[in-house]
Amino acid sequence: MLIAGNWKMFKGSHEARQFATAIRHLPERARGVDVVVCPAFTALEATLAGLGEQSAIRVFAQNVHWELEGAFTGEVSAPMLLELGVKGAIVGHSERRQLFGETDATVRLRAEAALEAGLAVIACVGETEAEREAGEMQHVLERQIAPFPQHERLVVAYEPVWAIGTGRTATPEMAQEAHALIKSLHDAPVLYGGSVKPENAASLLAQPDIDGALVGGASLDGTAFEAICLAASQARA
Ligand code: 13P
Repeated sequence: MLIAGNWKMFKGSHEARQFATAIRHLPERARGVDVVVCPAFTALEATLAGLGEQSAIRVFAQNVHWELEGAFTGEVSAPMLLELGVKGAIVGHSERRQLFGETDATVRLRAEAALEAGLAVIACVGETEAEREAGEMQHVLERQIAPFPQHERLVVAYEPVWAIGTGRTATPEMAQEAHALIKSLHDAPVLYGGSVKPENAASLLAQPDIDGALVGGASLDGTAFEAICLAASQARA
């Protein structure tokens, strides 16, 4: 089970460091759960410092560029992340796809370069509401997954766009159906994301093909994030 907290554009370095210190022992209570936090670039170093050397929590970035260095204003490369002690990166989040012009082709470049450099990758897919209603979910997921390399450090996150930050979660059955489809297309663990909260985590994580969660809003609160990690610990106990 993997529980990753995507902090999005929340928590500056000061707050991130305090929060990381507060949650650093969480994996000792949430047995069997691989815990990851994904701060903004500016808070990566502070988060690592707050966690300290002993914590089992891994720190991932929210994006990564495919070149090692160069004239790419606003981008950050895998070696830059590795130098800090960052262990992985999210690629292809729907907010990147919808708001910043990310495409299947650029997601592929990012994923391949990150894996090549030694980072782990959480590669995101998910259909919009309009695509689901038009019966295109399978087609969209197939198109988004096709570029992902087969790699032991790649995890897929299924985040239906209509469930992100809306409070509308896919039912456990809907999520299970999508996860089973994704697993038939790509041999990798699949996380669910989209309004995961302490109240719905146990029923989602009880599904056989849900291998963890990518948590947005609820990961910003220590108590809620811990409750989700504990639910994950019990789900496969
Ligand atoms: P919420 O949990 O806030 O819906 O966000 C989900 C998400 O986008 C995680 O990457």
